[in-house]
Amino acid sequence: MPTPTDRVRRAERSRIRVMFDLAQRHGGDLVRLEVGEPDFDTPAHVIDAAASAARDGATHYTSNAGLPACRRAISDTLAAEYGVEHDPDEVVVTVGGMEALHLAVLAAVSPGEELLVPGPTWPNYKTQATLADGRFREVPMPAETGFALDADRVIDAMSDDTAAVVLTTPSNPTGRVFDRDECRAVVEAAADHDAYVIADEVYLGLTYDGPAQGIAAYTGRPDHVLTVGSCSKRYAMTGWRLGWLAGDREMIDAVATVRESTTACASSVAQHAAIAALTGPQEPFEEMYRAFEERRDLVVDRVDAIDGLSAPRPEGAFYAFLDPGIDAPAIEVAKYLLREHGVVLAPGDGFGDTAPGRLRLSFANSVDRLEEGFDRIEAGLAEY
Ligand SMILES: Cc1ncc(COP(=O)(O)O)c(C=O)c1O
Repeated sequence: MPTPTDRVRRAERSRIRVMFDLAQRHGGDLVRLEVGEPDFDTPAHVIDAAASAARDGATHYTSNAGLPACRRAISDTLAAEYGVEHDPDEVVVTVGGMEALHLAVLAAVSPGEELLVPGPTWPNYKTQATLADGRFREVPMPAETGFALDADRVIDAMSDDTAAVVLTTPSNPTGRVFDRDECRAVVEAAADHDAYVIADEVYLGLTYDGPAQGIAAYTGRPDHVLTVGSCSKRYAMTGWRLGWLAGDREMIDAVATVRESTTACASSVAQHAAIAALTGPQEPFEEMYRAFEERRDLVVDRVDAIDGLSAPRPEGAFYAFLDPGIDAPAIEVAKYLLREHGVVLAPGDGFGDTAPGRLRLSFANSVDRLEEGFDRIEAGLAEY
């Protein structure tokens, strides 16, 4: 009987999903703080633009790399908002940031080569390395500095086998924004090793404590950076599946060719939605941004006020990586909080091996629900 290949079977199920499924089965009045997507719907002008494009015939394949107007809108946005300069033909429109990452890893990592990622880390990079027959290596960042990027640790882990390093900033799960000098040092070392830095910047539009600049904007070696972005988080468009990969021309041409055999192109309707989101009125997105900022401040205050609880200050994205100060596996604590107190968090062991005792809280939820969630966390931790 034929069986699935090792590379497919080795893909692990996300622990975030485990809690999601438990919460679905449990039902009742739960405060769901494990989810990684904005609680806002896509603004109306984006939906209208997509609907009228579809009515006007935008129902066909586009070129592999995407509609020229969409590539142009992404190129302009990268330059204007994040200082990252790429011609439209150095941009490929992808099926979410997810496909951009998958293509980047596939194109940068040869079989047996290493993909380095500072931990704690979003789990999907590991699966993507496995699918490329590469080797995934997590390099733990220090808890004492709130998992700030420590370039020396990453550089020490590099070898001739290193094909790429992923830098996720702002970070999922910690909410940290990596220091520029540290990022710059990693890019320079990667360039010396003839490797790429894959800059996962899908949360860059949600940066709260300073300017949101892309890594490619402030390194001397932008040719060694592959920039991944997405409409999902900043524009509340997770379901449209629209992202991008920007990089050197040779790489972009190669991935545009190979994706002909997987997704062929991003949805034409979603590309029209992206053009509207990137070039149309920005007020609805600014409102969402301000809501996230307000919630971030609430999270910082509530974490500070709860005995024994701590977290690195979330500087971006919509996550706080809680240290519950309890000596027990996070999955047990998460299940207990769900069962006994009706609040759902994602356990830290879903984000690599660096910080298994932590709990990720998503503040993509209303102020009222967040207050209620923190009341429940406070009661639960006091009782555990
Ligand atoms: C760190 C990180 N990168 C990439 C993605 C992919 O997002 P999308 O494919 O919706 O653009 C996510 C989604 O949660 C993420 O958290």
